[in-house]
Amino acid sequence: MKRKFCLIAVVIAGSVAAGLSYYVNSGSKADAHIISSYVPDKTYGNAGIGTEKSSGELLEKPLKKPSENSHDISREEEQSDKTEEKINISECSIIVDDVEYSGEFTEPSIKVMHGGTALKCGTDYEIEFDGKTDRGAGKYYFTVTMTDKYEGSIEKSYNVIPQRVSFSSVNTRVSDFELNWTASENVDGYEIEISPNSDMTEQETLVIEGGDNTSYTKTKLPWNSTYYVRIRNYVYDENGTEKIYSLWGDIETVSTKQVEVIDGVTYIDGTLIVNKTYSVPEYYGSGLDEDALGAFTEMADQASADGIYLYIVSGFRSYWTQYSTYNYFCSERGISQADRVSARPGHSEHQTGLSMDINSTSFSFEDTPEAQWLDENCWRYGFIIRYPRGKEEITGYAYEPWHIRYVGRELAEELYNSGLTLEEYFGITSRYDY
Ligand code: DAL
Ligand code: ZN
Repeated sequence: MKRKFCLIAVVIAGSVAAGLSYYVNSGSKADAHIISSYVPDKTYGNAGIGTEKSSGELLEKPLKKPSENSHDISREEEQSDKTEEKINISECSIIVDDVEYSGEFTEPSIKVMHGGTALKCGTDYEIEFDGKTDRGAGKYYFTVTMTDKYEGSIEKSYNVIPQRVSFSSVNTRVSDFELNWTASENVDGYEIEISPNSDMTEQETLVIEGGDNTSYTKTKLPWNSTYYVRIRNYVYDENGTEKIYSLWGDIETVSTKQVEVIDGVTYIDGTLIVNKTYSVPEYYGSGLDEDALGAFTEMADQASADGIYLYIVSGFRSYWTQYSTYNYFCSERGISQADRVSARPGHSEHQTGLSMDINSTSFSFEDTPEAQWLDENCWRYGFIIRYPRGKEEITGYAYEPWHIRYVGRELAEELYNSGLTLEEYFGITSRYDY
């Protein structure tokens, strides 16, 4: 039988504080012998540990420092025979780490500490899990049962946290940005932080209930401003009250579009913008833009090789030409119908030299092979069909299959692939305020 003998009060106190233990194999109290009269030069904690004297009385007084009771030592050594004193689990601390869900059961790291000492599983304690094999994110329980010279048991919990999620794409616009992510399986919602600082201080926290969500748009932001964003997901515990969060995903930097107004002309991320909201000054523009014309020539050459004949029926139009054009439509159809097909002076893209009408401005053009070729290929040369079908509410104009706008190859390709108009892409309106 393995018994623990506590020699004298001061030794016990010092031993515990120092993390030491003394054992003597003994059949009975009478066999006990003194191992040592060593008085450790340590701090004297654990003053509340009861120490049985030979008389069987419990010494309940706080232990004294050896210097104060050294005259008692020899007597106490004689009285050192003791019963076993187990350390209760309440004196131990249990440290358990969360586990990130991996699709299968992963044991959490559990540490049982007494004082500064890590106890040994299998020797000092046993762990019993709750037996559940399907461990999706949530709260789970296990029992720690102390053994050997420790006693007691306790039920503790640990979290299997959901797998972290990061943004899959971020779309920025003039005064808003759209955050996209892939829906996490079996989660109850998401939390997004938006901060003006890279250390995520002064952050705004948004809670998005529902695991099926995959997008959030932050609106009404100032132009030209930068934010730092991150996302995490959560599940509710079994009571539906406490949220169990994943780790935060990667921090993304997101900036609203750069808007510059130079000499009365608006550029968004370097692209000149003209529509019902944005105008150019009366004396702006003097002819077709060189790059736009070069791109058209290249496009027309390629089209011609494909048996398609493309030509410009209207290119640059000055403010005053547009004035006449718009007024013609007003007199023919009235203002509201004119506004659907013709820009007011100062609001036409034709005044920028970046737009041109190809072949015809009659709706019959729509069904020609030329219109189809233009629709399918103009992006390769840096053009977009500026007023697509079904987007009148957004662009401000009815479908014009003949009106192309030069935006450069990169943006043209992006717009073609996304199916977005310039208004949607930049997040701007096209609306007269007069
Ligand atoms: N037809 C287009 C909208 C313009 O007048 O510029
Ligand atoms: Zn046009």
